[in-house]
Amino acid sequence: MAADIIAVYPGSFDPLTSGHVDIIQRGSRLFARIVVGILLNMDKSPLFTVSERVDIARSVFAAYTNVEVDTFDGLLVEYARSKGASVIVRGLRAISDFEYEMQMALMNHHLNPHVETVFMPPAEPYTYVSSRLVKEVVALGGSVHGLVPEVVEQRLREKRLARETLRA
Ligand SMILES: Nc1ncnc2c1ncn2[C@@H]1O[C@H](COP(=O)(O)OP(=O)(O)OP(=O)(O)O)[C@@H](O)[C@H]1O
Ligand SMILES: [Mg+2]
Repeated sequence: MAADIIAVYPGSFDPLTSGHVDIIQRGSRLFARIVVGILLNMDKSPLFTVSERVDIARSVFAAYTNVEVDTFDGLLVEYARSKGASVIVRGLRAISDFEYEMQMALMNHHLNPHVETVFMPPAEPYTYVSSRLVKEVVALGGSVHGLVPEVVEQRLREKRLARETLRA
């Protein structure tokens, strides 16, 4: 039944941005439950540890009873199955996202045709927001106010201070 649909929203969330928050909020209205799945094995070296990223997402969504924050490794469709999820949520910001996202969706459908990928457009003010760009802007001393949750802005500030102290 549609009313019982559990969705998984996978990503690296390094860090969580306002674009991610918007997708999760909308997902929490669309689905019975949305599981934010933080990917464990990223090949790039992350800025935030997995447990920092989990803490951040849990604190931002503390008041949402149907948002779960979890970590996963391995095949996404297997993870979805383990969560009882029949939907994978992904955001589609620009044409540049399209090719990779389409390939992933088709491959996941091949691996498990019972799991549907649902694409969501970004909220208009966050169309250009990505974790990578947020990190770049902060590293160069720019402001990301409003583009990330306040707790993330604070933690980014702490990371930058820690790095500056190390360098001094
Ligand atoms: N601003 C945004 N609006 C809507 N969807 C988004 C936004 N940013 C990311 N997403 C989606 O969230 C999912 C998780 O993405 P991911 O963790 O890779 O974030 P990202 O911002 O793309 O980070 P990175 O820059 O490190 O790739 C993906 O489906 C991505 O398309
Ligand atoms: Mg990405």
